[in-house]
Amino acid sequence: MENIKIKVNGSEVEVSPGKTVLQVLSELGIHVPVLCHYEPLMPQGSCRLCVVEDRGVLKTACTTPVEPNMDIKTDTPNVINSRKLVLQLLFTERNHYCMYCEVTGECELQDLGYEFGLDHFEFPTYERKFPVDNSHPFIIMDHNRCVLCRRCVRACSEIAGHFVLGEMERGIDTMIIADMDIPLGKSSCVSCGLCAQVCPTGAIIDKRSAYLGREVQSDVIYTNCDLCPVGCGIEVYKKKGANFIVKIYGDWNSDVSQGVLCKVGRYLSLYDEKKRLTGIRVKDDFGYRKISEDQLIKLVKDKIDKGIAYVDGTLFNEELELIKELFKDKVYALNPEEIPISSNITLNDLDNRNFYVVIGTDLNREYGTVGSIVKRNVIGNKAKLMVIDKEFNSLAKLADYVFNIKDMSMALEIIKKQDDVVVIYKDINSDEIKLLSSLTNAKFLYLPKETNSLGLQKLGIKHNNITAEYVFVFGKNLEGLKNLNIKDSTVFVFTPYENDEIHKATVLVGISNGFEREGTFYNLEGKKLKREKVLRPTYDTVDLKTFLSQILGRAEKVS
Ligand code: FES
Repeated sequence: MENIKIKVNGSEVEVSPGKTVLQVLSELGIHVPVLCHYEPLMPQGSCRLCVVEDRGVLKTACTTPVEPNMDIKTDTPNVINSRKLVLQLLFTERNHYCMYCEVTGECELQDLGYEFGLDHFEFPTYERKFPVDNSHPFIIMDHNRCVLCRRCVRACSEIAGHFVLGEMERGIDTMIIADMDIPLGKSSCVSCGLCAQVCPTGAIIDKRSAYLGREVQSDVIYTNCDLCPVGCGIEVYKKKGANFIVKIYGDWNSDVSQGVLCKVGRYLSLYDEKKRLTGIRVKDDFGYRKISEDQLIKLVKDKIDKGIAYVDGTLFNEELELIKELFKDKVYALNPEEIPISSNITLNDLDNRNFYVVIGTDLNREYGTVGSIVKRNVIGNKAKLMVIDKEFNSLAKLADYVFNIKDMSMALEIIKKQDDVVVIYKDINSDEIKLLSSLTNAKFLYLPKETNSLGLQKLGIKHNNITAEYVFVFGKNLEGLKNLNIKDSTVFVFTPYENDEIHKATVLVGISNGFEREGTFYNLEGKKLKREKVLRPTYDTVDLKTFLSQILGRAEKVS
């Protein structure tokens, strides 16, 4: 389409049609105040802070498309006074006493008050006390701070796909509600936390992050979550000059997750209370005694030739490569996992499909970002959903078809008649794989059990159950240790957490974990992602990559 001509503050400009006035003005570098508008969300034009004048008429810049012959003015007295009036009314409507608010200093409403030089309440302030909902484990909802911009409602549906938040009543009585107006902590909220990320004021805040520090007091590290094989893009806010994380946000620019996060990625690593394994210990007749890292290096060096290694899929590629270098072809996966049908669809392409089949996983509980994609298409775009499982699956209530996994052949008859089918599956047996493989009209997305299961596969590391005089076990998921025949072996275990299985070890080594280490892994799409180191280790632990490099005789600086 041809460009159109409009005037902006008296100057003629050529713009491409289809854009909003706000988009054009921001491309021209003209600042327009906004509040309900938030770039990843659909514009809704409710706060009216962005008004501009077009041929004498005030229009919301965020929702008005450009059209020929517009004569946009952004700085007339009418525009400035209208914006100021809107702001004065917003400050009056609920209890915006900034000094009592957790987000003071980084609140978009407060910033606008400063921008417009508001130094007093122009109208009588609203006396009514609104509820504070503290029922949720991770989130506080303080309705006194709410400006009814509905960013939370839109983010919960349009992006996160959960459709939990909504609104009731009208005008001054409008309230943001969860489900049919029940406490957020009792609602169907899955704790993705996107509502808190997009809230412009202190109306929805993360409990754990409260009062830990403002964004300007933080270093922001862009990296990927390594707590599941999705590998969502995250922004980690680390307090400047300190060794703790203030909060984790979804990264809007991530080509894996485009801002979406799940409970695990946003909250669980910050609430990690599992008991850490610390120090280096050797078992003798009197129990475990501590030894130094130098003693450990010597002990390990002597045993590698007669040893084999077991690894899990929580290890980074760099750690796995070093273990392969040390143990050659005697490296095995601790936990059995075959990738049955290779995935042939990316997370980006998962959007806008007609028919989703989800097998053996409850996407409200695990792989949450995949769940968001499926739900926003099923609830928002009316795509069809089939759930196949052997146990309760909370997605079933959204599904058009629900099958027990033993009735897979019946389910397949329906799937075969659909077009544009995606099968998202986990943990199925060989008969089920055979049935699924017969589908010619479907794309497949396999959900691996461990973060770097694909990394193990790429390095040719497979599960086996063999033994040796010395068995070295590396990783976090030690389930597989239960089944190994190692009672006559000397077992070295390198792991970050205390665990029921670690008593089998003769040598126990606590290793760095989470944000204390860095490395790469392959996510479920096969993308190589980087996890940055954010924190100094706070426990007495060994950095596995550095330790393995030392065994190989390579000097590597301990960071
Ligand atoms: Fe345009 Fe709110 S930002 S109406």
